Amino acid sequence: MNMPICIGNWKSNKTVEESKSWINEFSTLLPRILPGNLPTIILCPPFTALMSVKEMIEEKSLPIVLAAQDISPFIGGAFTGEVSADMVKEFASFVLVGHAERRKYFKETEEELFFETLQAHKSDLSTVFCVPDADTVVSDLADIIAYEPVSAIGSGEAQSREKVTEICQKIHGKTGKPVLYGGSVSEETIQGFVRAPGISGVLIGKASLDPKQFFRLIELAADFSKS
Ligand code: PGA
Repeated sequence: MNMPICIGNWKSNKTVEESKSWINEFSTLLPRILPGNLPTIILCPPFTALMSVKEMIEEKSLPIVLAAQDISPFIGGAFTGEVSADMVKEFASFVLVGHAERRKYFKETEEELFFETLQAHKSDLSTVFCVPDADTVVSDLADIIAYEPVSAIGSGEAQSREKVTEICQKIHGKTGKPVLYGGSVSEETIQGFVRAPGISGVLIGKASLDPKQFFRLIELAADFSKS
């Protein structure tokens, strides 16, 4: 059976020191789950912490895959402040594209998201393409889709399992790609989501900031893997 995918997105949080403590604490908890039951864990630290987190993951041989939270739509060169796909590739194997906060606060357009996905693809980075509904255009080059209804993100209240299942199945039907749900995923809701047909995993924001809380969610998702 396919293991659920659990993505932790730290957003604009954590210095390098805070990131290192997070990894230290999380790594002491991980052995409580049998390797065969582990969900696929993808972690999205801020750019500034990617290198240190990568080193720690390698040192400790942790089953964690790294992702960047954003990527430049440009190939590289004279684009002050941008981090290009080749630079991301040195530290991560995934990248989030079109997260709701990038669309809202940084006015990222469909065209930019198309080029971000293209650059990622050219550099062999896998993309998690985030959409707020089933109608938003998804690049054919995206690897995983994350359905994240804007009203549920950071609200403390996830969308209902029925509604999420309906939309994720619709997106999966259109794209044929694995579809994750994101938006206030909690201990109470995670199992309902990872068990639902058509939902391949979850994207966790706030609840990934505390290593114990994130581990608890991973444990609940792992529990499902055994059944
Ligand atoms: P949240 O964030 O879990 O804090 O709602 C989810 C997300 O933005 O991906």
